[in-house]
Amino acid sequence: MINSKTKLIGIFGDPIEQTLSPAIQNAALTELGLDMVYMAFHVSPDVLKEAVEAVRAFDMAGANITIPHKESVIEFLDELSEDAQSIGAVNTIVNKGGRLIGHNTDGAGFLKSLTLETGLQVKGKNVVLLGAGGAARGIVSAILNAGATSLTIANRTFEKAQKLAADFKQMSDVEIKCAPIEKEPLLPYIQEADLLINSTSLGMGARVPFNTLVLSLDKLPKEAIVSDIVYKPLDTALLKSARREGLKVHKGLGMLIHQGAIGFELWTGHPGPINVMTKAALEALDIK
Ligand code: ATR
Repeated sequence: MINSKTKLIGIFGDPIEQTLSPAIQNAALTELGLDMVYMAFHVSPDVLKEAVEAVRAFDMAGANITIPHKESVIEFLDELSEDAQSIGAVNTIVNKGGRLIGHNTDGAGFLKSLTLETGLQVKGKNVVLLGAGGAARGIVSAILNAGATSLTIANRTFEKAQKLAADFKQMSDVEIKCAPIEKEPLLPYIQEADLLINSTSLGMGARVPFNTLVLSLDKLPKEAIVSDIVYKPLDTALLKSARREGLKVHKGLGMLIHQGAIGFELWTGHPGPINVMTKAALEALDIK
């Protein structure tokens, strides 16, 4: 029951209607019996500063930050975690006695879900990453931190892949290679890959379908894992094709749940209840 002591957590985005976070986080708060509530707020860029100030004014526990504010929010915060700093984007704010600390739980959430669900240890592995957008940044950070041996970034806009590679050059000794998303140029990297990740929005909902023909999935090593961060649909065309080739797959919902679970722990001090959060997400997606 909401009362005068109930603590508020928010999510700020524009648009915001699509977010599953209120369903996931409120299910977790209820499960643990915490006197907190998680609300979504439609925050347009012109009022982002005021929204962040409200976290302090209302003594909120914190907030999630989503499209399109993950980078622009940084100037309104007091401090950044190491992850947020290296990724250059914030998806979680924690209010520490009036000081607003920006975190980024996307990469760590991806890696945790990948490790738990597939058993893959990224250390020493060859990774091919499709996409060079916001989501890719968190994944690159996590993959390099985990000690991958090689990383190839393939993107439609080649310059964005090069920019991403350059931004992370200092982070590890690994040489980050870039390639276009085309069959022939990608083949040498696909043949050596232990892990292929799709971080593009291809295959999401009713948007442009993923043309998996460009990928030569049949040329991946037999023990390779194919991961897709798209979770709507849960089972994407890419994952279906990979499964047909006998490859192990990693679905996108896990990243969403685990990035949220890490945020939940930052705000509440309690580990996020993964099963409860997953069930709530599936219900919100209308998949029971
Ligand atoms: P997000 O925050 O979800 O990563 P984003 O920053 O807009 O969103 O990045 C979207 C990614 O999907 C980019 O890598 C984009 O490629 P470009 O950099 O060339 O734009 C990729 N993407 C989106 N639509 C695509 C399409 N139709 N074909 C190929 N790549 C696409």
